[in-house]
Amino acid sequence: MSYYSILNLNKEPFSTSPDPYFFYPSTSHKQAMQRLEIAIRLRRGLSVILGDVGIGKTTLARALIQELHSTNGAITHMILDPSYDSEFQFVTILAKLFGIKGTFRSTLDYKEAIERFLFKKCVDESHIIALIIDEGQKMSLSTLELLRTLLNYETNEYKLLQLVIMGQMELLPKLQRINNFSDRISLKYILNPLDYNETKNMIEFRLKQAGAASGKEIFTEKAILTIYQYTQGYPRKIAAVCHNLLEELVMKDKRIIEEDLVNEVMEKDRKVVLVS
Ligand SMILES: Nc1ncnc2c1ncn2[C@@H]1O[C@H](COP(=O)(O)OP(=O)(O)O)[C@@H](O)[C@H]1O
Ligand SMILES: [Mg+2]
Repeated sequence: MSYYSILNLNKEPFSTSPDPYFFYPSTSHKQAMQRLEIAIRLRRGLSVILGDVGIGKTTLARALIQELHSTNGAITHMILDPSYDSEFQFVTILAKLFGIKGTFRSTLDYKEAIERFLFKKCVDESHIIALIIDEGQKMSLSTLELLRTLLNYETNEYKLLQLVIMGQMELLPKLQRINNFSDRISLKYILNPLDYNETKNMIEFRLKQAGAASGKEIFTEKAILTIYQYTQGYPRKIAAVCHNLLEELVMKDKRIIEEDLVNEVMEKDRKVVLVS
């Protein structure tokens, strides 16, 4: 029997996979989402979302895709790891992702085919095509150069491709090194960690999504404060610590997480961090 069913939950509440079902819209996440939606709807071209590891970029990307599908029927494509060896490899993959038929011999042929495709879909057929690239800091300069070319495809009013790049902070200086890239950014947003109240709300939200009865306390206020101080409001850390806490709770056959238990689990967690 899984630990969460012992706690009368029907899903694992603190898995660290980027599942939009567990996406809690903190002020920062909500703002990023709203601005992205506007930028995409107005077809402004390039949006860049920056933030540290574990802040929620991949989860935001998945939630955005879900939102775009349900609200404006945009066609979305996502690249999880954009580390390509050459421009040719990247255009080949892009063409495949877009579902462009035919084989092309050179990078230039591919670029032309992609432009024709985007023109037909976005101008003739009025679709919105969004390409979301995660782990943007892994992109090579040649990949970025190619994206700059794609951003040149436009009508008088709008860009053909809506590009969203998610990346760690080191992405920004990389973009700045490429001529005319930074000034193409229409939205730049840095995701912030959660504050204490948001940490509390995120924990409650995820428990509720996992089927917890409302109003039933699992974490005491002091326990949540300690979790907040330890994780500094980073969602991945919050989820990981809470996951360990629930497991420990079940093992100890208790029902309420108090400060002492948090201190004990954090102590173990610190040791793991020191060893790994
Ligand atoms: N807004 C959020 N609400 C709830 N959980 C979140 C949120 N953002 C992130 N998480 C949790 O933190 C984990 C790390 O998020 P992730 O999107 O993978 O971060 P990043 O891509 O920035 O490293 C996710 O798997 C998810 O469980
Ligand atoms: Mg990620």
